Amino acid sequence: MPPRISARRLFLLIATFSALTLLLAHNGSLPWARLRPPAQRPPTDDDPTAAARPERAESADAPAQYAAEKRERAESADAPAQYAAEKRERAESGDSGRPAGRPWFMRGGTEFPEKHRGPLRLFPDQADGDRVVEQLMYVPEDYQGYDTPEKTILAYNGLGAWGEKSGSASFHGCPVSRCSLTDDRSKAVNADAILYKDHFIHPGVPRPMSQVWIIYFLECPYHTQSLKFADVINWTATYRRDSDIVAPYERWTYYDSQVRQKDQNKDFTVNKTKKVAWFVSNCGARNGRLAYARELAKYIPVDIYGTCGPHKCPRTDKKCFEILEKEYKFYLAFENSNCRDYITEKFYVNGLGQNVLPIVMGGRPEDYQRSAPEGSYIHVDEFAGPEELAAYLHRLDKDDALYNSYFRWKGTGEFVNTYFWCRLCALLHAPAPPTPRRYDDVNDWWRGPGVCTPKSWRAAEVV
Ligand SMILES: *[C@@H]1O[C@H](CO)[C@@H](O)[C@H](O)[C@H]1NC(C)=O
Ligand SMILES: *[C@@H]1O[C@H](CO)[C@@H](O)[C@H](O)[C@H]1NC(C)=O
Ligand SMILES: *[C@@H]1O[C@H](CO)[C@@H](O)[C@H](O)[C@H]1NC(C)=O
Repeated sequence: MPPRISARRLFLLIATFSALTLLLAHNGSLPWARLRPPAQRPPTDDDPTAAARPERAESADAPAQYAAEKRERAESADAPAQYAAEKRERAESGDSGRPAGRPWFMRGGTEFPEKHRGPLRLFPDQADGDRVVEQLMYVPEDYQGYDTPEKTILAYNGLGAWGEKSGSASFHGCPVSRCSLTDDRSKAVNADAILYKDHFIHPGVPRPMSQVWIIYFLECPYHTQSLKFADVINWTATYRRDSDIVAPYERWTYYDSQVRQKDQNKDFTVNKTKKVAWFVSNCGARNGRLAYARELAKYIPVDIYGTCGPHKCPRTDKKCFEILEKEYKFYLAFENSNCRDYITEKFYVNGLGQNVLPIVMGGRPEDYQRSAPEGSYIHVDEFAGPEELAAYLHRLDKDDALYNSYFRWKGTGEFVNTYFWCRLCALLHAPAPPTPRRYDDVNDWWRGPGVCTPKSWRAAEVV
């Protein structure tokens, strides 16, 4: 008789697993959770029902998430005052503490931007890279603080979806803070910007020439809808690096871009007796990750926790991660889709957040190379296939120095809060570019050829 899992047990498993992931990720004790930018969502928990639904952003766990984000913001809201105090203290004691000149958005950062001079580096056609730091450090030359009129941002799908309140609270502490949020659709006729979250709804009123329409996508193209009006969008805000406002799941920032590796005085192999672990609940992902993991398991032990495998985590929270970093050498940080720049907390929290070496699948190898700390992971496409990868893992397993070399990034930087609202406000106050920004076809940009692939990137390139 084939083994059977009752529907009830299956449901319990999924529920427990999702809850645990959420709890762990939202616990303030995890630095990764604290640093999540305000505009972002909790872990994409591979919940199979959610994956089939484009509206996952409005899921039931929203309130808890927003409470956590609010706390975060509450902590950071009075940042300028706090940092001023720290600076005084340090000046008095003659102790320079951490290296001087760390920007305001980093821990202990005191450096606030001066008014900007010179060429702008805010939009994709002005500068390469994700421009996150440039945007965080931008203050327009003509900015006059409270004498500068506020820009109004209409959140067309409501503020609940963002976990924000109407008014200017979301911008407190920002270098450019003269903005206010509203969800009052009657303001569509004169708002400075209309911000859409995952869905576009045409306001159906005349659009002022200078009004900026912004689409925000959190999920990858497979899990977001095509826009019915593809030629009306001015700015995009997504995890993609070529978005106008890049909103990555996490943003690694070096303390000193010249120092990307350092001695750890720690052996990351100690007590680790097991090889590869994977926490997963959505077995039917688009990139064949389960098949890859099963093939890999033929050559090296792979313990699959959750719905798609036989292993279970104890219910007590944090235990899963404890087991992961104490017992395992490798973790499969496999995203559910292979799409450009699509790198989520599966990598940042489950992988880099633990003392375990992540093996990644999702974004292209060059995407990880640009976003992740140097030498912190292994991309599946570095190898012809699971068998070759397994051979390398066995080699790492035997060579402690080589294994430990993958942890030399630790302590060379931090994952920063990218203050989405601050950057949005700064950009709205920036001078209008000579040619207005717009997307001829935002669907083509977001989900056109080459953005995602059902195969590995390696196989996709061959075609
Ligand atoms: C968060 O972690 C702390 C210990 O660091 C623990 O006491 C607390 O119960 C945890 N909270 C949640 C919601 O998991
Ligand atoms: C390794 O295991 C020993 C014995 O259980 C324990 O005392 C020690 O703290 C462990 N070391 C680490 C780094 O977990
Ligand atoms: C926004 O996009 C529309 C439609 O493409 C365009 O007509 C308008 O000039 C753009 N406005 C700004 C401020 O970029």
